[in-house]
Amino acid sequence: MALGVSIRRANPADAAAIAEVHVASWQAHYRGLLSDEAIARRSVAVRREQWQRCVLEPARVTLVAEDDGAVVGFASAICFDVPTDGYRAYLHTLYLAPGMTGRRLGARLLGAMARELLARGITTMALRTLRENRARSFYERLGARLDGAFGFDAGHFDDVAYGFDDVRALVALDEFREAEGDA
Ligand SMILES: CC(C)(COP(=O)(O)OP(=O)(O)OC[C@H]1O[C@@H](n2cnc3c(N)ncnc32)[C@H](O)[C@@H]1OP(=O)(O)O)[C@@H](O)C(=O)NCCC(=O)NCCS
Repeated sequence: MALGVSIRRANPADAAAIAEVHVASWQAHYRGLLSDEAIARRSVAVRREQWQRCVLEPARVTLVAEDDGAVVGFASAICFDVPTDGYRAYLHTLYLAPGMTGRRLGARLLGAMARELLARGITTMALRTLRENRARSFYERLGARLDGAFGFDAGHFDDVAYGFDDVRALVALDEFREAEGDA
């Protein structure tokens, strides 16, 4: 359990901290899965600029997990007005800082994201993950099913697509917040 960690919507002031987590997670988890060059190119400066833009995009939901004031994880989803290959949202990123994995924080971020999407009337969400990523087991454990028909954002890496048919099943994963009764 990551009980001390709270989850909230990101704001532009979080861009630098999100960038730090993004880069650290790539370095810790993608070494060997992607080329060193591909990892090095996505520097903190590049990611900071990306997240300064992304956090402000109205069609996006970006959440941060905060531990004692420090961002230790984040998730970001793009919402589609009309379904894209059958889905109304695309989980674009979900990353935890190295050392924060395995404490149900990823599950909580997914639950909080589900809650945000439902508030926008969205029940379906797809994602892509590297074919060799251990995160596949995480998504499968939480009910995602492989969906080769989802083509959005394809072609950058050797990855696979998954879909959640109904994100209502994920809301309870944000169990700490549920327990608090915080709507
Ligand atoms: C993938 C990631 C977000 C998962 O978050 P996490 O906090 O480590 O996972 P959780 O502790 O919430 O696990 C939830 C469930 O998935 C299972 N799980 C998590 N990682 C797993 C793995 N690699 N293999 C098998 N099961 C796994 C857990 O055992 C748990 O199952 P349970 O409900 O039976 O207890 C996190 O590990 C991470 O940031 N990884 C590196 C970056 C990455 O690959 N991101 C995904 C990009 S697509």
